[in-house]
Parts: sequence; structure tokens; C-alpha cells
Amino acid sequence: MRRRTLLLVAAAGISAVGAAPEAPTRTPTPLGRVVPAPASVAPDGTAFRITPTTRIQVDRNTERIGLYLAGILRPSTGYRLPVTSRGGSDAIRLRLGSRDKALGGEGYRLDSGKHGVTITARTSAGLFHGVQTLRQLLPAAVEKRTVQPGPWPVAGGTIKDTPRYGWRGAMLDVSRHFFTVDQVKRFIDELALYKLNKLHLHLSDDQGWRIAIDSWPRLTEYGGSTQVGGGPGGFYTKADYKEIVRYAASRHLEVVPEIDMPGHTNAALASYADLNCDGVAPPLYTGTEVGFSSLCVDKEVTYDFVDDVIRELAALTPGRYLHIGGDEAHSTSHEDYVKFMDRVQPVVARYGKTVIGWHQLTGATPAKGALAQYWGLDETGAEEKAQVARAAQNGTGLILSPADRIYLDMKYTKDTPLGLDWAGLVEVDRSYDWDPADYLPGAPSSAVQGVEAPLWTETIVTTSDIDHMVFPRLPGVAELGWSPAATHDWDTYKVRLAAQAPRWDALGIGYYRSPKVPWPAE
Ligand code: ACM
Repeated sequence: MRRRTLLLVAAAGISAVGAAPEAPTRTPTPLGRVVPAPASVAPDGTAFRITPTTRIQVDRNTERIGLYLAGILRPSTGYRLPVTSRGGSDAIRLRLGSRDKALGGEGYRLDSGKHGVTITARTSAGLFHGVQTLRQLLPAAVEKRTVQPGPWPVAGGTIKDTPRYGWRGAMLDVSRHFFTVDQVKRFIDELALYKLNKLHLHLSDDQGWRIAIDSWPRLTEYGGSTQVGGGPGGFYTKADYKEIVRYAASRHLEVVPEIDMPGHTNAALASYADLNCDGVAPPLYTGTEVGFSSLCVDKEVTYDFVDDVIRELAALTPGRYLHIGGDEAHSTSHEDYVKFMDRVQPVVARYGKTVIGWHQLTGATPAKGALAQYWGLDETGAEEKAQVARAAQNGTGLILSPADRIYLDMKYTKDTPLGLDWAGLVEVDRSYDWDPADYLPGAPSSAVQGVEAPLWTETIVTTSDIDHMVFPRLPGVAELGWSPAATHDWDTYKVRLAAQAPRWDALGIGYYRSPKVPWPAE
């Protein structure tokens, strides 16, 4: 699928060299045909057309986003699209400083008409999200990197849009298989298309330690030297990691680093014999079992280690959160788990960060302000759900990642070549069709901070593997996180989702052509 898409792009490039012929007609994409569904859409029947004389009008504070937009539009339109402070009509205007408080920290307003498109917001994040909407209103060919035939219409009217939840995330497991900085950047760009704002990186597990910690160099030198299946693994230097954080910030995503503890720690235990209760380092691990490793809760060196790791990681993290894992600690007694979490959570606070843990953290005492990430299933036992709900009633915020809904590594059907199925088969409609607000019985809806879709990578090796599992489920997760509950409707969503496919083709993103979705003919 991916190879054929690239060939098509190349062919289009050759036929269009030096010219941008206009197709005779092109109906603008209807104003509301956007994923995630905007909060309010009012078409007015007019349209704007980007032409060779269109400008991108910015001021000092919006120039960066103007250049980003020009970077998307110039290669495919072939137009100059100067980014300038000059006013007048025939422009895409990017404006900060709206007095409309209702737009909040991430909302925007898009006005489109004969004389141009104006995107207004109170923050750069809002403006950036507005630019993503504009991309989707343009013909899909705008995403290609070679000159394409126009015209380039944008439907007229007004969109006012704000997110339902502040937490709209995806997680990439870079431990089971390692992914390079460039692969992570590509993933970030995919998240940004759908207005996600958190990138959770699962940086350590039994199979590999992926972030340089200067005070414990063997974590990466040795602990990062392999991965599932025995390949060479890899790790991020601090410079690499800073580059990921910088790139994510340029797309208005916050990076949430995770060091999974006290279980899922074989790579660390293999790197330093001292961290083991018996003082013997186990071998590196390249299989896919879980639950067999634990830091030694009774040894002081464990807390020296944790302190150093959290201190160095916090220093690399401009964001507010640090994820300490805490799932599947099957080799740690309950008493030890509680002792460990009681000692480790204050370390996160000492270095200025807020704790996130997988929802098993609610079996200990979550620190004040901590968030619990729920990864249970519809059929998870009532007692476990009640434990999480009680924590939520007591002030622990919730991030919802139900495994049989939005785990991106679950197979779509029994025939899906990649992925796992321990949580079930998760088709695109099942992934979309639930409501975060009333998902967890007994948890107040005010505790729900939002949603996050994890991609575990036991079976995921390449960028096209990532794309196949992420698309088309991720846009549905984005819609659960962004769009008002009143817009939620599978039958209308699947039509908007289908309209995304030509964009993925133009971007070289392969996807699963679910029979549940009325895709356009290939
Ligand atoms: C998890 O899937 N073990 C969080």
C-alpha cells in the first residue's frame, strides 16, 4: 500500500513539473467535514480560493505558525505564499489575542469568505489547531510534496472550536522495539493532524532502557542494546531527547516520559547487579512475557537509583508530568508495592513534577494531584473498577485508555497480521463508540482529564507497522478527546473518517481499510 502511494506521488510530480494546471471545477470540502468534529460550524455558502497572489498574514507572535503553514501549502500549490505583516484581502490571516474568553487555552475561530480566511485564537496552541482545520478544508492533494493541479478552495463560513478535554494523548512504546528520533517526529506529525496534545513515551521496560541517564551509564550502554526478537535496540542521547521535546513543542504537544517501576525493569536489573535483591544481574530479555521483574524494594541503592533517574529525566522535561508506570508488578508483593510507591512519589514532587501511574497506583496511595491511567477492559472486575473510582472520588484525576477500546496494538480482526489480542479484537467502530464521561462506573465525570491511546510495540517494528495500527483508530480517539459529546455519532463520523483517506494517501500513510467505513474508491 505504502509503496504504491509513493509511486503515485512521484508520477504526479513528473507530470506537473513547471506547471500547476487548474482542474475545471473543484467543490470545496463542506465546512464541517473535519476530524475531530468542531464544536460549532456555520457555513455561509461562499468560498475562498488560495491563488498565486495569496499571502499569509502574520504578526511577530504568529510568524512561526505562518511559516509552518506555508511549509505545508507551498510544495503542493506551487505558489509563493509570502508570510508577511502586510494587510488587505486575498490572505490567510493568523491572529492571536482574541478577546473571546470562551476560546480558552486551545480553542480557535476560523472565518472564511470571499476575501480570505482568518484564524483567531488566544494562544499559539489554538492557532495551531485552527491551522490543522484549514488543512482538512483544503483538497487532500494539498498534503502532497510536489506541485499539484488546483484550484484550492476553502468553504465559507465560521467555525468556533474548543476541546472537550485537556488531555488528548497517544503513547509510543520505544522499549519493546526502538524507534529513531525521525520515526518519533513522524508520529508527532500524525498526532498533530488530529489536535492531540500529549505524547507519552514508554522509555523503559524489560526489553530495553532507551533514555541516557549520565549517573547510571550502563542503563543505555548495556540495557539499551537489544529489543524484542534480539535486534540491536538503541537509545536516545540527551540531545536526541531534547530534539524530540523541541519538535513536539513546535507541534504543541507535551512529552510525558515514563520510567516503568517497580516491575517492567529487567533492562535496569540486567545493567546493574546491585539493583537485584540477590546481587545477581539477570540476562537481557528479548521475549514478550510480562510481570517477572522487580526492583528490590528493601535496598537503599534502589532509591538512589530512582532519585538519579527522576532528577535527570525531570531536568529534560519542560512538561508538568512524569509517569512512573506501576503496572503488572506481579513480582512485587502488595506490601512492597505500597512501600515503594510511598517512597517514590515524593521524589517526583521534589523534582517539580506531577505523578502519573497506571491505574494499579490506586492500590497504593496516589500522591495529591496524581493522575491514574486506566487501562482496564469493559469486563474488568467491579472491585478493580471501584478502587479506581474511589481514588477518583478522592481527587485522583483519570486518563482513560481502556485496552479493549483504544489500545492501538490490539488487532482489528483475527486476520490483522500485526498486534496482540489479549484485550480482544478492536475494530474502528468499537474504538470510537464509547463515552469517556460515563465510562468508569462511580467515577465523577469531573475526574476525567481525557483520553490516551497507547501503542505497545511487541509486534510493531517499522513506521508502516505503526501507521497500520494507528490509522484509522487514532482519529476516533482524537474525536473522543476533542469533540462535544453532542456530535458523537458513528454513522456521521464514519463518513468524515472516510474523507480522511485521500489525505493519508497524499501523506504516504498506509492504513487499515476497515469494511466498517465507506472509503472512497482507491
Ligand atoms: C499495560 O498495558 N500494562 C499498562
